[in-house]
Amino acid sequence: MIRDEGPGSPLPATLGGMQHPRSGPRRSIAVVGAGYVGLVSAVGFAALGHAVELVETDPDRLRALRSGQVPFTERGVEEALTAALASGDLTVLDRASRTESEIILICVGTPIDDLGYADMSAVEAVLAEIGPREPRPITVIRSTMPVGTSQRLFRDGGVADGSRFFIVPEFLRQGSALADFNSPNRVVIGRSRSVDPDAEAVVAELFAVFGAPMRLVTLEEAELIKNGANAFLALKISFANEMAGLAERSGADIGPVLDGIGLDPRIGATYLQPSFGFGGSCLPKELQTIALSGRERGLEMHVTSAAAEANLAHQRLFAERIDTLLGGVAGRSIALLGLAFKAGTDDIRSSPAVGLARWLRAHDADVHAFDPAAGGRASRAVPGLIVHDSAFAALAGVDAAVIATEWPEFKEMDWASARRLMASPHVIDGRRLLDPATMQALGYTYERVGSPSSEPARSTP
Ligand code: UGA
Repeated sequence: MIRDEGPGSPLPATLGGMQHPRSGPRRSIAVVGAGYVGLVSAVGFAALGHAVELVETDPDRLRALRSGQVPFTERGVEEALTAALASGDLTVLDRASRTESEIILICVGTPIDDLGYADMSAVEAVLAEIGPREPRPITVIRSTMPVGTSQRLFRDGGVADGSRFFIVPEFLRQGSALADFNSPNRVVIGRSRSVDPDAEAVVAELFAVFGAPMRLVTLEEAELIKNGANAFLALKISFANEMAGLAERSGADIGPVLDGIGLDPRIGATYLQPSFGFGGSCLPKELQTIALSGRERGLEMHVTSAAAEANLAHQRLFAERIDTLLGGVAGRSIALLGLAFKAGTDDIRSSPAVGLARWLRAHDADVHAFDPAAGGRASRAVPGLIVHDSAFAALAGVDAAVIATEWPEFKEMDWASARRLMASPHVIDGRRLLDPATMQALGYTYERVGSPSSEPARSTP
């Protein structure tokens, strides 16, 4: 048995130090849910030589996956899927009930509703479908759950026996999910007090292959680690963005300010990149989850609640700044470069770019957008949005361009030629992607988040 020596006890060196590629036995693993977490886990474990069954119930997605097509944008995953199908290490099933794998990884979505409550119905449905069976599989939840959820699943009978039940939260980022899978910065394994030591050893061995620090914790601790890690990242970006606003109004540039702050190793430089707001399906959700978990236990979670409010306020301020710079957006034609919540994905959930598109449309601007991956999704989500198939097409004849997602394409494009296409050479950069001196030399009026407006600030002596 791997002893629990209190919260966060590290594994013995023998397990923690295993080398990539797989050195343990080949396991049979079912991965339920083919979103970016499930699909990446499935192709990742197949590449390590395990026998993987990927379960996807949606018939269209199932068909696409079986022919090696990935239904979303995620670097390297299509190649890995094709290789895993060809080697026979991965097969695609339509129901969790069909699997006979010894380990079942649950990777289905747990979105929150308007009130902030996590919808656990997909997880519950998978647990019900697996049901009681012999031999009992090892069940590992990778989906994000609010603290206390596993206890509720036990109470409601969703999980009859905690001895072979684990939570191993994922820390993958969309856009670099496969790379993150292969080099996690830590592995957290949550298990119940009645854990079966053999099952625990199997789970630990499965994840020890990555050589990352491993922590064995309780189920509640695993839930809170996942909730808290995302909330803290969100908090850090909210802080950076709030400082960026202060810099804009103080005649300072936020770049050197955050560089100077982030050099302190107690603070660290990552997740301090200012933007006009953060999005995605995880960071905003986790702030709400933590605030709600606190409230349910009689605690006001001031810091996380404030970070969420700051994020919304920051996006509103950016929209108003565009409005001021253009002397009103009504009747103006504006190019929006980027719609995804960040580069490298076609995901538009809680995307600040889509929020901005909606705001501009609501204020009677004509919005011409381009995104290398998310155009189709966004045009269905924002009525009246005109989506083009290139950045140049979106820029033709517009009064201003806004950079809303940090796609490298927008940094590398020919801005000299773009200037000739635009009716007025205004660029407002919500991601601090471009070089101000270069843009000004090309004749643009260039404004960006975290730098003062080019008009002299009123407080400047
Ligand atoms: C996040 C976490 O980073 C992952 O560790 C976690 O596994 C994942 O959620 C999850 O729970 O599944 P993700 O939502 O893919 O990953 O995206 P991030 O790369 O963290 O970016 C989130 C948002 O913050 C984006 O809108 C991004 O543009 C923004 N951001 C990020 C900034 O504005 N500044 C930064 O410095 C970093």
